[in-house]
This record gives sequence, C-alpha cells and structure tokens, in this order.
Amino acid sequence: MVRPVAALLLFPALALLAQSQASPPPPTPATPATPAAPGFVGSNACRTCHADVWQNFYKNPHSKSLASGKEPPERTGCESCHGPGQGHIEARGGKATIPRAFSVMTPKQAMQACLTCHENNFDKANIQRSEHTQNDVPCTSCHSIHHPASTKTLLAKKESELCYGCHAGIRAQFEMPSRHRVNEGFMQCSDCHNPHGSFAATWGMGQRSHMVEQALDNETPCLKCHVDKRGPFVYEHPSVRVEGCQMCHNPHGSTNAKLLTRPVVFTLCLECHNAGGSGTRNLGVDLQTSQHNLLDPRYQKCTTCHVRLHGSNADQYFLR
Ligand code: HEC
Ligand code: HEC
Ligand code: HEC
Ligand code: HEC
Ligand code: HEC
Ligand code: HEC
Ligand code: HEC
Ligand code: HEC
Ligand code: HEC
Ligand code: HEC
Repeated sequence: MVRPVAALLLFPALALLAQSQASPPPPTPATPATPAAPGFVGSNACRTCHADVWQNFYKNPHSKSLASGKEPPERTGCESCHGPGQGHIEARGGKATIPRAFSVMTPKQAMQACLTCHENNFDKANIQRSEHTQNDVPCTSCHSIHHPASTKTLLAKKESELCYGCHAGIRAQFEMPSRHRVNEGFMQCSDCHNPHGSFAATWGMGQRSHMVEQALDNETPCLKCHVDKRGPFVYEHPSVRVEGCQMCHNPHGSTNAKLLTRPVVFTLCLECHNAGGSGTRNLGVDLQTSQHNLLDPRYQKCTTCHVRLHGSNADQYFLR
C-alpha cells in the first residue's frame, strides 16, 4: 500500500540527482548576484558569434537590464527576449536551437514575447482591439531591436516612412495644397494616432476609432494644438462636439483651403442647415432665417458673419 507512494516521491528526486550529475557544470553567470537558472548562460556568451549585434547593444534601452544586474536571468540581456541560450551554444548555433528566434515565430508569438514586459505600457484592451493586432501586424513590423533608425523608440525607419510602407495611399493626402505638414517633418502620424490602439471615441459616435489618439478626457487630439477650439463655450456649435472636427475637415489634407471637406463653405453648412423657410427646423437643426438670401453672394460667405463658428462665448449665433 505504502510503496507506490514512496516510489513516486523518490523517483523525481532520483531523476534530478542523475541529471545534475550528467550535465556539465553550469557556466559562470554574467551577474553573480543572481542565482543560476536552468539553461541561462548570460549575454557574454553570445558575443563571439554575434559580434555585430552584441557591439551595438549597449546603445539599446534593453541593455539597462545588463547594466543594473538586478534582474533575474530570464529578464536580463539577450536571453530576456530570445530565451535560455545554453542548448543553442552547445549546438554551435542554429535557428531551431534558440527558444525564441523571431524570424520563425508567428506574429502572435512575437507580440507575446514583447508583452511579457510591455503590457503595462499599454491598455490591454486597446492593444488587443487595435487594427494592427487584429490584422497580425506585430511589434516587430514597426520596431527593430537590433537595426533601428533611432535608438529612442527603436523604430525600424523614420516614422512617416514606416507608416507609408504599408499605407501608401495616405502619402498623397499629405501632399495636397492644404495639409498638415507631416512630410515636411513638423508633425508625425503619432501626434494624432496611437499605432498601439486607442479607446473608442465619444465624438463622431458610430465611427470606428481609426486608432485616433485621445488627449485629455477622451477628447480629439486636434485640441492638443488647436487649443482655441477647445472650449467649453457658452454657445457651442453642436457639430464640433458631436460629429467632431472631421465632419468639416479632412484631417490629413485637402484640395480645399483650411483642410475643408468641401470647396465652398456654404455647401458644407447646408449639409445640415438645409431646408427652406424660416422658423422651421430640419432634424432639429436651425435653418437660416429668411433674411438669408442665398442668391445674394454676400450671404453665401457664411463665415464672414458667423466668425466664431467653432463656438462663442459672446453670441448665440457665433457672430462674434
Ligand atoms: C528586446 C528584445 C531583444 C533583445 C533584448 C535581444 N534581441 Fe535579438 N532579436 C530580437 C528581435 C525582435 C529580432 C528580430 C529582428 C529584429 O526585429 O531586429 C532579433 C534578432 C536577432 C538575431 C538575428 C539577426 C539580426 O541581426 O536580426 C540575432 C543573431 C540576435 N537577435 C541576437 C541577439 C543577441 C546576441 C542579443 C544580446 C546582445 C539580443 N539578440 C538581444 C529581440 C531581442
Ligand atoms: C557558437 C556560435 C554561437 C553562439 C555562441 C551563439 N549563437 Fe546564436 N546563432 C549562431 C548561428 C550559426 C545561428 C544561425 C544563423 C542562421 O541560420 O542564419 C544563430 C542564430 C541565432 C538566432 C536566430 C535569429 C533568427 O531569428 O533567425 C538568435 C536569436 C540567436 N542566435 C541568439 C543567440 C543568443 C541570445 C546567444 C547567446 C545566449 C547566441 N545566439 C549565441 C551561432 C551562435
Ligand atoms: C525583459 C523585459 C523586456 C522585453 C521582453 C522587451 N522589452 Fe522593450 N523595454 C524593456 C525595458 C526595461 C525598456 C527600457 C525602459 C526605459 O528606458 O526605462 C524597454 C524599452 C523599449 C522601447 C523603447 C521605449 C522608449 O521609451 O524609448 C521599445 C520601443 C521597446 N522596448 C520595444 C520592445 C519590443 C518590440 C519587444 C519585443 C521584441 C520588447 N521591447 C521586449 C523591457 C523589455
Ligand atoms: C504600426 C506600428 C507599431 C506597432 C505595430 C507597434 N508600435 Fe510601438 N511605437 C510605434 C511608434 C510610431 C512609436 C513612437 C510613438 C511616439 O513617438 O509617441 C512607438 C512607441 C513605442 C514605445 C515607447 C513609447 C510608449 O508608448 O511607451 C514602446 C515601449 C513600444 N512602442 C512598444 C511596442 C510593443 C511592445 C509593441 C507590440 C505589442 C508595439 N510597440 C507595436 C509604432 C508601433
Ligand atoms: C506592416 C504594415 C503596417 C505598418 C508598418 C503600419 N500599418 Fe497601419 N495598418 C496595417 C494594416 C494591415 C491595417 C488594417 C487594415 C487597414 O485598415 O488598412 C492597418 C490599419 C491602420 C489604421 C486604421 C485604419 C482604419 O481604416 O481604421 C490606422 C489609423 C493605421 N493603420 C495607422 C498607422 C500608422 C500611424 C503607422 C505608422 C506608425 C502604421 N499604421 C504602420 C498595416 C501597417
Ligand atoms: C492631424 C491629425 C492626423 C495626422 C497627423 C494623421 N492622421 Fe490619420 N487620421 C486622422 C483622423 C482624425 C482619422 C479619422 C478620419 C475619420 O474618422 O474620417 C484618420 C484616419 C486615418 C486612416 C484610416 C482612414 C483612411 O483614410 O484610410 C489611416 C490609415 C491613417 N489615418 C493613417 C495615417 C498615417 C499613415 C499618418 C502619417 C503619415 C496619419 N494618419 C497622420 C488624423 C490624423
Ligand atoms: C501636433 C499639432 C497639431 C495637431 C494634433 C493638429 N493640428 Fe491642425 N494644424 C497644426 C499646425 C501647426 C497647422 C498650421 C499649418 C502648417 O503646418 O502650415 C495646422 C493647420 C490646421 C488647419 C488649417 C488652418 C489654416 O489656416 O489653413 C486646420 C483646419 C486644422 N489644422 C485642423 C486640425 C484638425 C481637424 C485636427 C485633428 C484631426 C488637427 N488640426 C490636429 C497643428 C496641429
Ligand atoms: C461645422 C463645420 C466645422 C467643424 C465641425 C469644425 N470646423 Fe474648423 N473650420 C470650419 C470652417 C468653415 C472654417 C473656415 C473658416 C473661414 O474660412 O473663415 C474652419 C477653420 C478652421 C481653422 C483655421 C482657421 C481658424 O479659425 O483658426 C482651424 C485651425 C480649424 N477650423 C480647426 C478645427 C478643429 C480643431 C475642429 C474640431 C474641434 C473644427 N475645426 C471643427 C468648419 C468647421
Ligand atoms: C453636422 C451638421 C452641421 C453643420 C455641417 C453645420 N452646423 Fe450649424 N448647427 C448644427 C446644429 C445641430 C446646431 C444647433 C441647432 C439648434 O440649437 O437647434 C447648429 C447651430 C448653428 C447656429 C446657431 C443657431 C442657433 O439658433 O443658435 C449657427 C449660426 C450655425 N449653426 C451656423 C453654421 C454655419 C455657418 C455652418 C457652416 C460653416 C454650419 N452651421 C454647419 C449643425 C451643423
Ligand atoms: C451678412 C451676415 C450673415 C451671413 C453672410 C450669414 N448669416 Fe446666418 N445669421 C446672421 C445673423 C445676423 C443671424 C441672427 C439671426 C437673424 O437675425 O436672422 C444669423 C442666424 C443664422 C442661423 C440661426 C437662425 C435661427 O433662427 O436660429 C443660422 C442657422 C445661420 N445664420 C446660418 C447661416 C448659413 C448657413 C450661412 C451661409 C449660407 C449664413 N448664416 C450666412 C448673419 C449672416
């Protein structure tokens, strides 16, 4: 009755004993302060064969783990991403022997390897719902650990070039006569987008998030720079708050002045303020009064009178 139980307890112990006698003595770890973990050999062991990678590594923010010497082996240096290297070295190299060779990993595996440390940088839900994650674009399609264009954010290329690599159609929008000057280097895609995903927006409801980054308090990123449009105003123009800036402006660029979605301003206004007669309403939107004679060219220039169209603290009709 007792013997099988005793055997069960005994066997693992025996196996461990046998293993420790058979395997070679563990190599001296790079950081003596931390206890040796199975299979980890320390980053110095990689130097001889991967001199190119090794020599540039000191510039990489990930080398801090080596310098500090306080992290456990599975979070230190080369092996923090590639896994324990002992088997790889014994086999004198090879893609199949290193636990995490990114060139043979699936996008999900690659992402998981980075998220073990970086999941606190991002809202978990957002990184999962990001259009990039959902379309199998892992961290490593934008970030290059060993051959980055800049060691700061470890991007593989200059940001706009990186994005245009997959979003070629967007480049033309930033070449239009009225545009945000991304191509000229004054702005970046990431001033408005978070490529790691974003919360669903409360403005422009019903639209997809398009990974548009949010500034304070779930507001549109446009207000980070165009602070005079922020409000709150005593008299709000609801379309600015509810539909959002992109109701009237193309965010990237436009053939029309001031990034407008339409060439003539009044046609834009008439999208909403669009039925005849005075005092009546169309879908809750006030119509112009009959005094507005649209055949009179003067009246076609709505914004010459309605100058505080984005909101006013002085006049309900945005006249000042
Ligand atoms: C932060 C994670 C990370 C760390 C730390 C890291 N690597 Fe890498 N390594 C990668 C990724 C990801 C790739 C895939 C290619 C790329 O994105 O640059 C890679 C690719 C490689 C390659 C393939 C060749 C190449 O140049 O791309 C070698 C060899 C390599 N790493 C060795 C090392 C060595 C040696 C160290 C320590 C000095 C190290 N790695 C540290 C993530 C890491
Ligand atoms: C004895 C030489 C040698 C040593 C030491 C060595 N490697 Fe390698 N490593 C190789 C060879 C050879 C390859 C295969 C290259 C190939 O097939 O393109 C390789 C491939 C790799 C790859 C695969 C890259 C990819 O995705 O294709 C990684 C990652 C890697 N080594 C990391 C390490 C790390 C980390 C260490 C230190 C723990 C290390 N190597 C130590 C020789 C070595
Ligand atoms: C072992 C933990 C660990 C792993 C795994 C890891 N990182 Fe890091 N990463 C760090 C630390 C720590 C820093 C440095 C943060 C600092 O500078 O304070 C860093 C910095 C970065 C930075 C630069 C951040 C900045 O502010 O400039 C990028 C980009 C980055 N990592 C991407 C990646 C990618 C992509 C992967 C997967 C291939 C990865 N990391 C895997 C721990 C890790
Ligand atoms: C579509 C391209 C893209 C993908 C995919 C991507 N990143 Fe980034 N990442 C960027 C850009 C661009 C920046 C610079 C943003 C900035 O300057 O504000 C950045 C910045 C960072 C930073 C530093 C700033 C911060 O927000 O903390 C870290 C860390 C980082 N990325 C890690 C990751 C990890 C981990 C993954 C995968 C889960 C990943 N990235 C996927 C493009 C990308
Ligand atoms: C490796 C290719 C790749 C790179 C690099 C890349 N993207 Fe993407 N991106 C995609 C794919 C695939 C999708 C999902 C399909 C689509 O909507 O085009 C996507 C979707 C998007 C979307 C959402 C599109 C929508 O219709 O809602 C935005 C915004 C975006 N990317 C911005 C960026 C920015 C900004 C960068 C640079 C920091 C970048 N992307 C870099 C491949 C890439
Ligand atoms: C001034 C802010 C801003 C900048 C800078 C910006 N975007 Fe956008 N982008 C937006 C907004 C806002 C939307 C959503 C438009 C909508 O809802 O109709 C968007 C939508 C998108 C979309 C999805 C819709 C489409 O047209 O396909 C992609 C892809 C995209 N942007 C990529 C980029 C890339 C790549 C860059 C940098 C080269 C960039 N954006 C720079 C604000 C910006
Ligand atoms: C990072 C700062 C920044 C962000 C974010 C930003 N803008 Fe701009 N915007 C500018 C600058 C700077 C200009 C001046 C144009 C130039 O570069 O010559 C400008 C110009 C404009 C213009 C044209 C003004 C004119 O007189 O021709 C409009 C309209 C505009 N932005 C709307 C928006 C909208 C809508 C958003 C959000 C989707 C946005 N901006 C986000 C900085 C920003
Ligand atoms: C109802 C349509 C509409 C909405 C919504 C709207 N705009 Fe405008 N915006 C205009 C029109 C029309 C002009 C041109 C005014 C003129 O020509 O005098 C303009 C001009 C601008 C200008 C350049 C002139 C100036 O006043 O500084 C900026 C910047 C701007 N808008 C930013 C924004 C931002 C940011 C948002 C979102 C918070 C937004 N707009 C929402 C219609 C709109
Ligand atoms: C997306 C729809 C939309 C667009 C486009 C739009 N508006 Fe409005 N506007 C509204 C709504 C909704 C109200 C609030 C109506 C109400 O209070 O009954 C409003 C209110 C106004 C008011 C104040 C009316 C009042 O009784 O307080 C004026 C003036 C006005 N808009 C002018 C314009 C001008 C000029 C344009 C073109 C540059 C324009 N609007 C474009 C939706 C829009
Ligand atoms: C010559 C100056 C002027 C021009 C141009 C002008 N408006 Fe007005 N608008 C006014 C004044 C003044 C009011 C205040 C109410 C009134 O007296 O009718 C007003 C009121 C309005 C109202 C609110 C009506 C109500 O009963 O609440 C709307 C909506 C409006 N305008 C839209 C427009 C649109 C759209 C255009 C361009 C097609 C335009 N306006 C052009 C001067 C102008």
